[in-house]
Amino acid sequence: MKTTAKAPANIAFIKYWGKNNEKLRLPANSSISMNLSGAFTTTSVEFDERFKKDTFFLNDVVAKQEEANRISKHIDLIRSIAKITTRAMVVSKNNFPKGVGIASSASGFAALTVAASKAAGLNLSEKELSILARLGSGSACRSIPDGFVEWKMGNSSNKSYAHSLFEPNYWNIYDLIVVVGENSKKVSSTEGHAIAESSPFYKTRIVGMEEKIKEIKLAMKNRDFTRFGKILEAEAVNMHTVMMTSAPPLYYWYPETLNVMAKVIGFRERGIECYFTIDAGPNVHVICQGKNYLKLKRKILGIDGIKSVLINKAAEGAKIIRNE
Ligand code: DP6
Repeated sequence: MKTTAKAPANIAFIKYWGKNNEKLRLPANSSISMNLSGAFTTTSVEFDERFKKDTFFLNDVVAKQEEANRISKHIDLIRSIAKITTRAMVVSKNNFPKGVGIASSASGFAALTVAASKAAGLNLSEKELSILARLGSGSACRSIPDGFVEWKMGNSSNKSYAHSLFEPNYWNIYDLIVVVGENSKKVSSTEGHAIAESSPFYKTRIVGMEEKIKEIKLAMKNRDFTRFGKILEAEAVNMHTVMMTSAPPLYYWYPETLNVMAKVIGFRERGIECYFTIDAGPNVHVICQGKNYLKLKRKILGIDGIKSVLINKAAEGAKIIRNE
């Protein structure tokens, strides 16, 4: 059977940085995110007795060894749950151009999990899919449920999964991704998580997390954009402080990143309310309300040094789009 699934990337408002268990990808804290309507992966998986070996195509080319190993491990896990040994053909495509610095592991592992489990004959619940996606890449578990999502850290594998807080149309929020550079990371997120603890600020970050999550959930419940924005912007800087002070230090920002951050603060001071957040890369996600996004997009396009702006609203989670 061949199954095709589509899954969105997601942007974290409260970030996942640091793990309690590396192998099981159990995070050191819970996190909150929004699925992105404009950045997704479509993956088809076929198991067939005629296949002599597994084959993986990523964006029309055969997967590189390192990528293939990670996908292989995930497919093996799904095969062991489904009690099959059949080889697979995986064809995966991102709708966002390569090299724009949008992490594809969240949408990639979410789409792979949904497509491969179904093609292997499993009928998993949303919770089970989220747990399984997490084992491929932590942030992928948040791309399974719809809209605005919380990943509860949990203290065991069965308790660490994401659920939807609000449907996509609950709040008209936009994420304008300001692309300032390629994200050819020297240190991957996975390696970064492993050294987070070496920052002298890490413990302080973790201690304050529960309260911060309570506050941002309340702001989301009240659709209080100002409170929400202040929390998510401070949170991004908090995570990057840990990154920049770990050993070795991780500097993901470019001069253009800082320039866009300063511009966002300036737009806000002049009455267009918006806030920034940044993942493990140089690009800036500008979060705003629907009523401001077009005006803001025009302003952003006028900033020197930016490459493109990608527009996103909240989106539904991973879904099967075809069964053949
Ligand atoms: C900075 O999910 O890519 O984007 O579990 O090792 O695959 P692994 O890490 P990954 O980490 C994402 C880190 C982040 C913050 C976030 O998305 O919460």
